[in-house]
Amino acid sequence: MKLFLKGIFNDCFKHEDSNLLYNQLSAMKKKIKRIAVLTSGGDSPGMNAAIRAVVRTGIYYGLEVYGIMRGYQGLLEEDLFKMESRSVANIIQRGGTILKSARCKEFYTPEGRKKGYEVLKKNEIDGLVVIGGDGSFKGALNLSKEYDIPCIGLAGTIDKDIAGTDFTIGFDTAVNTAIDAIDKIRDTADAHDRLFIIEVMGRDAGYIALHSGIATGAENILIPERKTDAEAIITSLQEKERRKKLVNIIVVAEGDEYGGIELYRLIKERLPNLDTRLCTLGHIQRGGSPTGLDRLIASRMGYHAVECLLEGRYNVFVGILNNRMNYVPLEQVAKRKGRIAEEWMKVVETLSA
Ligand code: F6P
Repeated sequence: MKLFLKGIFNDCFKHEDSNLLYNQLSAMKKKIKRIAVLTSGGDSPGMNAAIRAVVRTGIYYGLEVYGIMRGYQGLLEEDLFKMESRSVANIIQRGGTILKSARCKEFYTPEGRKKGYEVLKKNEIDGLVVIGGDGSFKGALNLSKEYDIPCIGLAGTIDKDIAGTDFTIGFDTAVNTAIDAIDKIRDTADAHDRLFIIEVMGRDAGYIALHSGIATGAENILIPERKTDAEAIITSLQEKERRKKLVNIIVVAEGDEYGGIELYRLIKERLPNLDTRLCTLGHIQRGGSPTGLDRLIASRMGYHAVECLLEGRYNVFVGILNNRMNYVPLEQVAKRKGRIAEEWMKVVETLSA
Protein backbone atom coordinates (compact mmCIF):
# COMPACT_ATOMS: atom_id res chain seq x y z
CA MET A 1 0.00 0.00 0.00
CA LYS A 2 2.88 2.32 0.83
CA LEU A 3 4.38 1.84 -2.60
CA PHE A 4 0.98 2.28 -4.18
CA LEU A 5 0.42 5.56 -2.35
CA LYS A 6 3.87 6.73 -3.20
CA GLY A 7 3.24 5.99 -6.88
CA ILE A 8 0.03 8.01 -6.91
CA PHE A 9 1.65 10.70 -4.93
CA ASN A 10 4.57 11.07 -7.33
CA ASP A 11 2.18 11.34 -10.25
CA CYS A 12 0.09 14.00 -8.62
CA PHE A 13 2.59 16.26 -6.92
CA LYS A 14 5.61 16.20 -9.15
CA HIS A 15 6.77 19.68 -8.19
CA GLU A 16 6.58 19.31 -4.42
CA ASP A 17 8.76 17.78 -1.78
CA SER A 18 7.55 14.23 -2.28
CA ASN A 19 8.70 12.66 1.00
CA LEU A 20 7.27 15.35 3.22
CA LEU A 21 3.94 15.33 1.45
CA TYR A 22 3.90 11.55 1.27
CA ASN A 23 4.25 11.35 5.03
CA GLN A 24 1.45 13.84 5.51
CA LEU A 25 -0.62 11.88 3.05
CA SER A 26 -0.14 8.63 4.92
CA ALA A 27 -0.91 10.31 8.22
CA MET A 28 -4.11 11.82 6.88
CA LYS A 29 -5.17 8.59 5.23
CA LYS A 30 -5.40 6.85 8.60
CA LYS A 31 -8.14 9.18 9.73
CA ILE A 32 -10.68 8.17 7.14
CA LYS A 33 -12.78 5.24 8.28
CA ARG A 34 -16.29 6.45 7.78
CA ILE A 35 -17.54 8.82 5.11
CA ALA A 36 -20.89 10.35 4.24
CA VAL A 37 -22.44 11.43 0.96
CA LEU A 38 -25.25 13.89 0.26
CA THR A 39 -26.92 15.51 -2.74
CA SER A 40 -27.73 19.19 -2.53
CA GLY A 41 -29.35 21.97 -4.57
CA GLY A 42 -31.23 21.28 -7.80
CA ASP A 43 -31.16 17.57 -8.58
CA SER A 44 -29.64 16.39 -11.83
CA PRO A 45 -29.80 13.12 -13.76
CA GLY A 46 -26.76 11.03 -12.87
CA MET A 47 -26.69 11.94 -9.19
CA ASN A 48 -27.76 8.37 -8.40
CA ALA A 49 -24.90 7.00 -10.47
CA ALA A 50 -22.53 9.24 -8.48
CA ILE A 51 -23.96 8.09 -5.14
CA ARG A 52 -23.56 4.48 -6.28
CA ALA A 53 -19.93 5.09 -7.22
CA VAL A 54 -19.12 6.74 -3.88
CA VAL A 55 -20.81 3.98 -1.87
CA ARG A 56 -19.29 1.10 -3.80
CA THR A 57 -15.79 2.62 -3.94
CA GLY A 58 -15.94 3.37 -0.21
CA ILE A 59 -16.95 -0.19 0.58
CA TYR A 60 -14.30 -1.54 -1.80
CA TYR A 61 -11.68 0.30 0.27
CA GLY A 62 -13.11 -0.97 3.55
CA LEU A 63 -14.83 2.25 4.59
CA GLU A 64 -18.24 2.66 6.14
CA VAL A 65 -20.44 4.87 4.01
CA TYR A 66 -23.41 6.86 5.26
CA GLY A 67 -26.08 8.51 3.16
CA ILE A 68 -27.45 11.85 4.35
CA MET A 69 -31.02 12.60 3.29
CA ARG A 70 -32.11 15.97 1.81
CA GLY A 71 -28.68 17.57 1.58
CA TYR A 72 -27.49 19.89 4.34
CA GLN A 73 -31.05 20.04 5.69
CA GLY A 74 -30.97 16.33 6.48
CA LEU A 75 -27.51 16.75 7.99
CA LEU A 76 -28.81 19.34 10.43
CA GLU A 77 -31.69 17.02 11.31
CA GLU A 78 -29.33 14.04 11.70
CA ASP A 79 -31.20 12.18 9.00
CA LEU A 80 -28.54 9.71 7.92
CA PHE A 81 -28.20 5.96 7.52
CA LYS A 82 -25.56 3.38 6.80
CA MET A 83 -25.44 2.34 3.18
CA GLU A 84 -24.51 -1.07 1.85
CA SER A 85 -23.58 -2.14 -1.62
CA ARG A 86 -27.14 -3.27 -2.21
CA SER A 87 -28.53 0.12 -1.09
CA VAL A 88 -27.37 1.40 -4.47
CA ALA A 89 -28.39 -1.56 -6.60
CA ASN A 90 -30.51 -0.77 -9.64
CA ILE A 91 -30.17 3.02 -9.41
CA ILE A 92 -27.53 3.86 -12.01
CA GLN A 93 -30.26 4.32 -14.64
CA ARG A 94 -32.63 6.37 -12.48
CA GLY A 95 -33.06 10.14 -12.55
CA GLY A 96 -33.54 12.22 -9.39
CA THR A 97 -31.62 11.22 -6.28
CA ILE A 98 -32.39 8.43 -3.83
CA LEU A 99 -30.93 10.66 -1.09
CA LYS A 100 -33.32 13.48 -2.05
CA SER A 101 -32.14 17.06 -2.28
CA ALA A 102 -32.87 20.44 -0.75
CA ARG A 103 -31.60 24.00 -0.57
CA CYS A 104 -30.83 24.73 3.07
CA LYS A 105 -30.71 28.40 4.19
CA GLU A 106 -29.63 27.50 7.73
CA PHE A 107 -26.40 26.00 6.43
CA TYR A 108 -25.41 29.43 5.08
CA THR A 109 -25.01 30.55 8.70
CA PRO A 110 -22.08 29.72 11.02
CA GLU A 111 -24.59 28.42 13.58
CA GLY A 112 -26.06 26.06 11.00
CA ARG A 113 -22.65 24.73 10.04
CA LYS A 114 -21.73 24.24 13.72
CA LYS A 115 -24.83 22.11 14.11
CA GLY A 116 -23.86 20.16 10.97
CA TYR A 117 -20.34 19.61 12.26
CA GLU A 118 -21.66 18.33 15.58
CA VAL A 119 -23.84 15.80 13.81
CA LEU A 120 -20.88 14.63 11.72
CA LYS A 121 -18.66 14.34 14.82
CA LYS A 122 -21.33 12.53 16.81
CA ASN A 123 -21.66 10.01 13.99
CA GLU A 124 -17.87 9.74 13.61
CA ILE A 125 -17.91 10.83 9.99
CA ASP A 126 -14.34 11.54 8.81
CA GLY A 127 -15.05 12.90 5.34
CA LEU A 128 -17.97 14.25 3.37
CA VAL A 129 -18.79 13.97 -0.34
CA VAL A 130 -21.13 16.69 -1.58
CA ILE A 131 -22.84 16.22 -4.94
CA GLY A 132 -24.28 19.51 -6.17
CA GLY A 133 -23.59 22.86 -7.79
CA ASP A 134 -21.46 25.83 -6.84
CA GLY A 135 -23.81 26.86 -3.99
CA SER A 136 -23.44 23.42 -2.43
CA PHE A 137 -19.67 23.67 -2.84
CA LYS A 138 -19.66 26.95 -0.94
CA GLY A 139 -21.34 25.20 1.98
CA ALA A 140 -18.69 22.47 1.86
CA LEU A 141 -15.89 25.01 1.65
CA ASN A 142 -17.11 26.94 4.69
CA LEU A 143 -17.58 23.74 6.67
CA SER A 144 -14.08 22.55 5.80
CA LYS A 145 -12.58 25.93 6.71
CA GLU A 146 -14.32 26.17 10.06
CA TYR A 147 -13.98 22.54 11.13
CA ASP A 148 -11.69 19.62 10.60
CA ILE A 149 -13.94 17.82 8.09
CA PRO A 150 -12.42 17.07 4.70
CA CYS A 151 -14.95 17.67 1.94
CA ILE A 152 -14.98 16.59 -1.70
CA GLY A 153 -17.36 18.06 -4.25
CA LEU A 154 -18.83 16.38 -7.31
CA ALA A 155 -20.23 18.75 -9.90
CA GLY A 156 -23.89 17.75 -10.18
CA THR A 157 -25.90 20.35 -12.07
CA ILE A 158 -27.68 20.49 -15.41
CA ASP A 159 -26.41 24.05 -15.93
CA LYS A 160 -22.70 23.23 -16.57
CA ASP A 161 -21.89 26.55 -14.94
CA ILE A 162 -18.77 25.53 -13.00
CA ALA A 163 -15.30 26.39 -14.26
CA GLY A 164 -12.63 23.68 -14.23
CA THR A 165 -14.61 20.81 -15.70
CA ASP A 166 -15.77 19.99 -19.22
CA PHE A 167 -18.76 18.12 -17.85
CA THR A 168 -21.16 18.39 -14.98
CA ILE A 169 -23.36 15.47 -13.99
CA GLY A 170 -26.77 15.90 -15.63
CA PHE A 171 -25.91 18.40 -18.34
CA ASP A 172 -25.80 15.88 -21.17
CA THR A 173 -29.15 14.37 -20.17
CA ALA A 174 -30.76 17.81 -19.89
CA VAL A 175 -29.47 18.75 -23.35
CA ASN A 176 -30.79 15.51 -24.82
CA THR A 177 -34.17 16.01 -23.16
CA ALA A 178 -34.32 19.52 -24.62
CA ILE A 179 -33.32 18.19 -28.05
CA ASP A 180 -36.07 15.60 -27.94
CA ALA A 181 -38.65 18.22 -26.97
CA ILE A 182 -37.49 20.77 -29.56
CA ASP A 183 -37.56 18.14 -32.33
CA LYS A 184 -41.18 17.42 -31.42
CA ILE A 185 -42.04 21.11 -31.37
CA ARG A 186 -40.48 21.49 -34.81
CA ASP A 187 -42.91 18.88 -36.17
CA THR A 188 -45.93 20.90 -35.09
CA ALA A 189 -44.26 24.21 -35.99
CA ASP A 190 -43.73 22.84 -39.49
CA ALA A 191 -47.34 21.66 -39.79
CA HIS A 192 -48.67 25.14 -38.98
CA ASP A 193 -45.91 27.36 -40.37
CA ARG A 194 -45.25 28.78 -36.95
CA LEU A 195 -42.47 30.52 -35.12
CA PHE A 196 -41.69 28.89 -31.78
CA ILE A 197 -39.77 30.53 -28.98
CA ILE A 198 -38.51 27.80 -26.68
CA GLU A 199 -37.11 28.70 -23.30
CA VAL A 200 -34.68 26.27 -21.71
CA MET A 201 -33.12 26.16 -18.23
CA GLY A 202 -29.55 26.97 -17.24
CA ARG A 203 -30.00 29.65 -14.57
CA ASP A 204 -27.50 32.35 -15.62
CA ALA A 205 -25.60 30.14 -18.06
CA GLY A 206 -26.43 29.52 -21.72
CA TYR A 207 -24.92 26.07 -22.27
CA ILE A 208 -28.16 24.10 -22.44
CA ALA A 209 -29.55 26.64 -24.94
CA LEU A 210 -26.40 26.62 -27.03
CA HIS A 211 -25.99 22.86 -27.21
CA SER A 212 -29.66 22.01 -27.71
CA GLY A 213 -30.13 24.89 -30.15
CA ILE A 214 -27.24 23.84 -32.39
CA ALA A 215 -28.28 20.19 -32.25
CA THR A 216 -31.83 20.99 -33.36
CA GLY A 217 -30.89 23.47 -36.06
CA ALA A 218 -32.46 26.44 -34.27
CA GLU A 219 -32.61 29.59 -36.35
CA ASN A 220 -31.57 31.69 -33.36
CA ILE A 221 -30.09 31.03 -29.94
CA LEU A 222 -30.18 33.63 -27.18
CA ILE A 223 -27.78 33.22 -24.27
CA PRO A 224 -26.78 35.43 -21.35
CA GLU A 225 -23.09 35.24 -22.30
CA ARG A 226 -23.79 37.31 -25.40
CA LYS A 227 -25.63 40.59 -25.82
CA THR A 228 -29.00 39.97 -27.48
CA ASP A 229 -29.63 42.15 -30.50
CA ALA A 230 -33.45 42.11 -30.61
CA GLU A 231 -33.57 44.45 -33.62
CA ALA A 232 -31.40 42.07 -35.63
CA ILE A 233 -33.77 39.21 -34.76
CA ILE A 234 -36.81 41.23 -35.88
CA THR A 235 -35.07 42.21 -39.13
CA SER A 236 -34.07 38.64 -39.88
CA LEU A 237 -37.62 37.38 -39.17
CA GLN A 238 -39.03 40.06 -41.51
CA GLU A 239 -36.62 38.98 -44.19
CA LYS A 240 -37.59 35.33 -43.66
CA GLU A 241 -41.27 36.26 -43.83
CA ARG A 242 -40.64 37.92 -47.22
CA ARG A 243 -39.14 34.74 -48.59
CA LYS A 244 -41.91 32.68 -46.98
CA LYS A 245 -39.70 30.91 -44.47
CA LEU A 246 -42.27 30.82 -41.72
CA VAL A 247 -41.08 27.87 -39.65
CA ASN A 248 -38.54 29.13 -37.18
CA ILE A 249 -37.24 27.97 -33.86
CA ILE A 250 -35.63 30.39 -31.43
CA VAL A 251 -34.04 28.77 -28.36
CA VAL A 252 -33.71 31.17 -25.43
CA ALA A 253 -31.78 30.54 -22.24
CA GLU A 254 -33.82 31.46 -19.17
CA GLY A 255 -30.96 33.71 -18.03
CA ASP A 256 -30.88 35.73 -21.25
CA GLU A 257 -31.71 39.42 -20.82
CA TYR A 258 -34.92 38.89 -22.80
CA GLY A 259 -35.97 35.43 -21.66
CA GLY A 260 -38.81 33.66 -23.43
CA ILE A 261 -41.74 35.85 -22.38
CA GLU A 262 -40.20 39.21 -23.20
CA LEU A 263 -39.05 38.05 -26.60
CA TYR A 264 -42.49 36.58 -27.29
CA ARG A 265 -44.18 39.88 -26.38
CA LEU A 266 -41.80 41.87 -28.53
CA ILE A 267 -42.30 39.66 -31.58
CA LYS A 268 -46.09 39.65 -31.14
CA GLU A 269 -46.07 43.42 -31.03
CA ARG A 270 -43.64 44.06 -33.89
CA LEU A 271 -44.55 41.14 -36.17
CA PRO A 272 -48.26 40.50 -35.55
CA ASN A 273 -48.62 38.56 -38.83
CA LEU A 274 -46.35 35.81 -37.62
CA ASP A 275 -48.08 32.88 -35.93
CA THR A 276 -45.89 32.78 -32.82
CA ARG A 277 -46.00 30.45 -29.83
CA LEU A 278 -43.98 30.30 -26.64
CA CYS A 279 -43.00 27.07 -24.92
CA THR A 280 -41.08 26.87 -21.64
CA LEU A 281 -39.54 23.44 -21.20
CA GLY A 282 -39.01 23.83 -17.45
CA HIS A 283 -38.32 21.02 -15.02
CA ILE A 284 -38.73 18.27 -17.60
CA GLN A 285 -35.03 19.01 -18.24
CA ARG A 286 -34.10 17.91 -14.73
CA GLY A 287 -35.70 14.47 -14.87
CA GLY A 288 -35.34 11.24 -16.74
CA SER A 289 -32.87 8.43 -17.05
CA PRO A 290 -29.29 9.76 -17.34
CA THR A 291 -27.51 9.36 -20.68
CA GLY A 292 -24.57 7.03 -21.03
CA LEU A 293 -22.21 9.99 -20.78
CA ASP A 294 -23.72 11.21 -17.52
CA ARG A 295 -23.60 7.71 -16.01
CA LEU A 296 -19.99 7.42 -17.06
CA ILE A 297 -18.74 10.74 -15.70
CA ALA A 298 -20.76 10.31 -12.49
CA SER A 299 -19.15 6.90 -11.96
CA ARG A 300 -15.65 8.23 -12.62
CA MET A 301 -16.11 11.29 -10.44
CA GLY A 302 -17.66 9.28 -7.59
CA TYR A 303 -14.80 6.79 -7.66
CA HIS A 304 -12.18 9.57 -7.63
CA ALA A 305 -13.95 11.44 -4.82
CA VAL A 306 -13.30 8.51 -2.49
CA GLU A 307 -9.75 8.19 -3.75
CA CYS A 308 -9.23 11.87 -2.94
CA LEU A 309 -10.34 11.29 0.64
CA LEU A 310 -8.05 8.29 0.95
CA GLU A 311 -5.09 10.08 -0.59
CA GLY A 312 -5.47 13.15 1.61
CA ARG A 313 -6.37 15.42 -1.27
CA TYR A 314 -8.99 17.33 0.65
CA ASN A 315 -11.40 20.15 -0.07
CA VAL A 316 -11.41 19.92 -3.82
CA PHE A 317 -14.10 19.25 -6.36
CA VAL A 318 -13.60 16.50 -8.88
CA GLY A 319 -13.91 17.64 -12.46
CA ILE A 320 -12.91 16.20 -15.82
CA LEU A 321 -10.87 18.41 -18.11
CA ASN A 322 -9.58 17.17 -21.49
CA ASN A 323 -10.60 13.67 -20.44
CA ARG A 324 -8.39 13.75 -17.34
CA MET A 325 -9.45 14.11 -13.75
CA ASN A 326 -9.07 17.68 -12.57
CA TYR A 327 -9.06 18.47 -8.86
CA VAL A 328 -10.04 22.08 -8.22
CA PRO A 329 -9.66 23.48 -4.68
CA LEU A 330 -13.10 24.40 -3.34
CA GLU A 331 -11.54 27.76 -2.52
CA GLN A 332 -11.17 28.38 -6.26
CA VAL A 333 -14.63 27.26 -7.37
CA ALA A 334 -15.82 29.82 -9.85
CA LYS A 335 -18.83 30.28 -12.05
CA ARG A 336 -18.08 29.37 -15.64
CA LYS A 337 -19.30 32.32 -17.59
CA GLY A 338 -18.65 34.66 -20.44
CA ARG A 339 -16.45 32.07 -22.09
CA ILE A 340 -18.60 30.82 -24.93
CA ALA A 341 -16.30 30.96 -27.92
CA GLU A 342 -17.31 33.07 -30.91
CA GLU A 343 -16.74 29.98 -33.02
CA TRP A 344 -19.91 28.42 -31.53
CA MET A 345 -22.00 31.44 -32.52
CA LYS A 346 -20.47 31.42 -35.99
CA VAL A 347 -21.64 27.82 -36.34
CA VAL A 348 -25.16 28.87 -35.30
CA GLU A 349 -25.27 31.77 -37.76
CA THR A 350 -23.77 29.84 -40.66
CA LEU A 351 -25.94 26.76 -40.33
CA SER A 352 -29.25 28.51 -39.69
CA ALA A 353 -29.21 30.63 -42.86
O1 F6P B 1 -29.62 24.82 -11.22
C1 F6P B 1 -30.50 23.93 -11.82
C2 F6P B 1 -31.79 24.62 -12.18
O2 F6P B 1 -32.63 23.67 -12.79
C3 F6P B 1 -31.65 25.86 -13.05
O3 F6P B 1 -31.44 25.55 -14.41
C4 F6P B 1 -32.94 26.56 -12.77
O4 F6P B 1 -32.81 27.97 -12.96
C5 F6P B 1 -33.19 26.27 -11.31
O5 F6P B 1 -32.42 25.10 -11.00
C6 F6P B 1 -34.62 26.00 -10.95
O6 F6P B 1 -34.69 25.85 -9.58
P1 F6P B 1 -35.99 25.28 -8.82
O7 F6P B 1 -36.07 23.80 -9.10
O8 F6P B 1 -35.74 25.58 -7.40
O9 F6P B 1 -37.17 25.98 -9.39
